[in-house]
Amino acid sequence: MTPTLPDTLCDLDGELLPLSQAKVSVMDRGFLFGDGVYEAIPVYGRRPFRLDDHLDRLARNLDALRIPAPDGLARRADWHSRLDRVVQAHPAEDQMLYLQVTRGVALRDHVPPPGLRPTVFIMTQPWAGVPAAQRHQGVACVTARDLRWERGNLKTISLLGNVLARQVAADHGAAETILLRDGLPGGPWLTEGSSSNVWVVHEGALLGPPMNEHVLAGVRVGLLRELCEEEGIAFNLRPLSEADLRAADEVLLSSAGREVLAVTRLDDEPVGHGALRGKPGPVYARLYEAYQRAKRQPV
Ligand SMILES: Cc1ncc(COP(=O)(O)O)c(C=O)c1O
Repeated sequence: MTPTLPDTLCDLDGELLPLSQAKVSVMDRGFLFGDGVYEAIPVYGRRPFRLDDHLDRLARNLDALRIPAPDGLARRADWHSRLDRVVQAHPAEDQMLYLQVTRGVALRDHVPPPGLRPTVFIMTQPWAGVPAAQRHQGVACVTARDLRWERGNLKTISLLGNVLARQVAADHGAAETILLRDGLPGGPWLTEGSSSNVWVVHEGALLGPPMNEHVLAGVRVGLLRELCEEEGIAFNLRPLSEADLRAADEVLLSSAGREVLAVTRLDDEPVGHGALRGKPGPVYARLYEAYQRAKRQPV
C-alpha cells in the first residue's frame, strides 16, 4: 500500500516542491547503502529549537563520513535560510523539521567515486507535541540487547538496528526500547533508547551514560545539562549498569520528539519507590517545566 503523501512543500537539492513530487534517483547512495546523515529538529512558533546545536552535529557527522558540504550550503547562514524557507511554507506553528544529506548518486560500488554531489532533502510536518496522557502518566518501556554497530555516535540514516529495536517496544505496546549492551564486565550497560537518550535519577541526581561510540549525543543532552544547572540538580555522565537502571528512583527519556518524558513502567514493572512507584517523579516534573520555558524563550 502506498500512502497518500501530504502536499506540503519540501526542499530537494534547493528546489521547493510538493512532497508527493520529490523524487530521488534509485542510484542515490542513501537508497542503495544508507550512506548519509540526518537531523530531526523541533520547531516551536516557527523557530527551530537549538538549531545551531543540530547543525554543529550535522557538520561533525558529515566530516566523520567524509561527505563534503553540499552545493550552496557551505556556510551556516545558507542552512538557516534553506531550512527557514521550508518552515515558513508550512501552515503549522509547531513542526518537526527533518533534513537528510546523502553522499549522492553514483554507479553502485562500495567505494564512492570522488567528486559526488551530495543529495539534500528537507521536509517538515506539523507536530502536536507530547500527548497529554504521556506527560501526566509517563510511558511504558521495554529493554532489549543493544545489537547495533560501534558507531552509534553518528546520526546516520542506516537505522536498521534502531528500527528492529523499536519493533520490540511496538510488539509489547510500549513507547520505547531501552538498550543494554553486553561485552564489558559488570554489565550489561545502559546505552540509549532506539530513538532517544535514557536517564536515571538516583538520590536526586540526573545520571546518563557516557557519550561514547555506543550512544548518540542528543542535542537534549547538552540542554538537560544546562537545565539541571539552572535548577540546581546534580548532573553526571557515567557508566550505568542494568542494575542501576532497574533500581532507579526515576527513569527519563529525551529526544527531539519526546522532549523530556518520564518512564513509569519498565518491562512491565513500575519504576521507582514508595508513593511515587509507577508515577512521574519530581526531577522529571522540574525538568519538564524548565524545558517548556526554554523552548518558548526568544532566541
Ligand atoms: C538513537 C538516538 N539517540 C538519541 C536521540 C536523541 O537526540 P536528540 O536529543 O538530538 O533528538 C535520538 C533522536 O532521535 C536517537 O535517534
